[in-house]
Amino acid sequence: MAEEMNVMVEASSDIEAQQIERIEAGELFENVEDLSPGYREALKQVIHIAAISEVTVLTWAHTAYDTAPDIGAKIAVCATIQDEVGHAHQQGLLAERFDVDIHEGTFHDDIAKIFTWPIMEVPIRNYVEFVVAQCLLDRAGLHWTKDIELHSSFAPYRRTLRKVNFEEGFHMRHGAHWTEYYWNKSEETKAAVQEAFDWLFPHGVMWFGKPDDLKSRPAMLQYQIRKWTNDFMREKWLQSACAFAAKHGIKVPAEYDEDQKKWVLTMPYPMLYDAENYSWSQEQCTQKEYWSNARKGGPMRPEAYERLRREEWGEKLW
Ligand SMILES: [Fe+2]
Ligand SMILES: [Fe+2]
Repeated sequence: MAEEMNVMVEASSDIEAQQIERIEAGELFENVEDLSPGYREALKQVIHIAAISEVTVLTWAHTAYDTAPDIGAKIAVCATIQDEVGHAHQQGLLAERFDVDIHEGTFHDDIAKIFTWPIMEVPIRNYVEFVVAQCLLDRAGLHWTKDIELHSSFAPYRRTLRKVNFEEGFHMRHGAHWTEYYWNKSEETKAAVQEAFDWLFPHGVMWFGKPDDLKSRPAMLQYQIRKWTNDFMREKWLQSACAFAAKHGIKVPAEYDEDQKKWVLTMPYPMLYDAENYSWSQEQCTQKEYWSNARKGGPMRPEAYERLRREEWGEKLW
C-alpha cells in the first residue's frame, strides 16, 4: 500500500507552483475547491487508498476473534474491529468530497482492484499473534496517521485522523500490555510471543514502503499531505519497536549500535516472505522482487473481501 502511495503527479504548471508556495508558507486548506488539480489528485489517491486499507484491516482483525481466549479478549477484538469500521467510515466520508465512492469500492468493485498491506491477507493464527500484531503493526500504522494529523496541509484530514489516532494508540498499548503478559505467563506463551515477533517484525519494517531513494515523484511530500518520509518513519518505528523488545528481552533482528546510539537492522532488507508458512527467506532480495511478490496477495484473497461483503463483522460477530 505504501508503495502505491507514491502518487504520480507532476507539479509543472504555475498553478501547482503557486499552491506549493502557499503550502510551504504554512497555509492550511479547508475546501477541495481551494486545491490545485495536481494537489487534489494526489490527495484523492492517498485518501482512497487509506480508506480501503482501513476496511481491509477489519477483515484481518476478524480472524483473531475465534482465537480470543475469554470474554475480555473477545470484547477487545470486537472493539478493535468496530474502531476500524469507524476509521474506514471517517475516511470514506472524506473520500466522498473527492468523488471517490468507498462503498462502491468496498462492496461492488472488482476485488482484484483492492491492494493493501500484504500482511492483511494472511490470517492471524492465535491470540498471542493478534496482540503482538497490535504491538508492532498498529505502532507502524500510527506513524503514518500521526504524521498526517500533525502535518497535513489539508485541514479536514488532520481533524479526521485525530479520533482515529486515539484509537490506534489504544490498539498499540493494548497489544503492548498483553504481549508483556504472555511473555511472562509461561514458557509456552513466551515461545508464542517470540514466534509472532519473528513473523511480524519484518512486516513492520516493510510497512513503510520503498526506501526514499527509490521514490521518483513524491507528490505526498510536495503538497505536504504528509511530512515524514518513508525512511524517517521506518527509523522512528524501528527505535520504538526495538526499545519495547529490549525492555522485555524479546529477540528482534536488530542490534544496538553504541557509536550511532540507535538500533540498526541485522536482517536482510528486504527479503521475501512465505505467507503459507509464516516465514521469511533470510536472504536479501531486491525491492522489485519484494513488491512483485507482495502484489500477488495472500492466502485470504479473495475470501477476506467476500467475508467483508457479507458484513461478518456486524451482527454475526457476537
Ligand atoms: Fe485503523
Ligand atoms: Fe488499528
